[in-house]
Amino acid sequence: MTELRVGVLVSHNGSNLRALHEASLAHDARFTIAAVVGNNEGALGLAYAREHRIPVRHISGTTHPDSDRRDEAIRVALVEHRVDWVVTAGYMKKLGPRTIREFAPRILNIHPALLPKFGGTGFFGDRVHRAVLDSGDTVSGPTIHLVDEEYDSGRIIARLEVPVHADDTVDTLAARVRAAEHTLLPAVVRQIASGQRLYLDIGRCL
Ligand code: GRF
Repeated sequence: MTELRVGVLVSHNGSNLRALHEASLAHDARFTIAAVVGNNEGALGLAYAREHRIPVRHISGTTHPDSDRRDEAIRVALVEHRVDWVVTAGYMKKLGPRTIREFAPRILNIHPALLPKFGGTGFFGDRVHRAVLDSGDTVSGPTIHLVDEEYDSGRIIARLEVPVHADDTVDTLAARVRAAEHTLLPAVVRQIASGQRLYLDIGRCL
């Protein structure tokens, strides 16, 4: 059976790339990581990919100062590796219109809070968890959504709730959400790869 070819974009750590790659090695996974594109040559995610012999491309403002050419280089890299679906997993840049036109709606992003709350411009990294703690919400968790030309606004595909504890810090909450991401992202990609329909409701894809 043909495997779904997934292209992953990363900027730094790459723990979601790792979770996805490990899941892809299961005999019944039906998907493979076809390529990893990173905008940061020193990203741990790129090092992980190289270590596991996944094709890697570094495409950034350094390699391609012009944003339109950069967008085209990303599009071409993904097309060359015959990518079916794109996952932005901790990719800190906005995808360009050429890449979006080529792959949408087959582009997923993972966000570390329950969208539509705590999303959009300025909500990234620890700021998201800080905002959740400041809000007094008692649940948080990752969201997977389709990517369009705005930040965090595409259709929500799946969310997974985790509790927020009264004594949580940004770090403890971030760690709990991150662990949930490592469950949710592979589960969603497995589901896409097996041709099942995507569910909107929290946790129903698991
Ligand atoms: C994750 O928390 C994800 O939700 C956000 O960026 C982080 C990436 O983490 N978009 P990692 O690089 O996969 O470890």
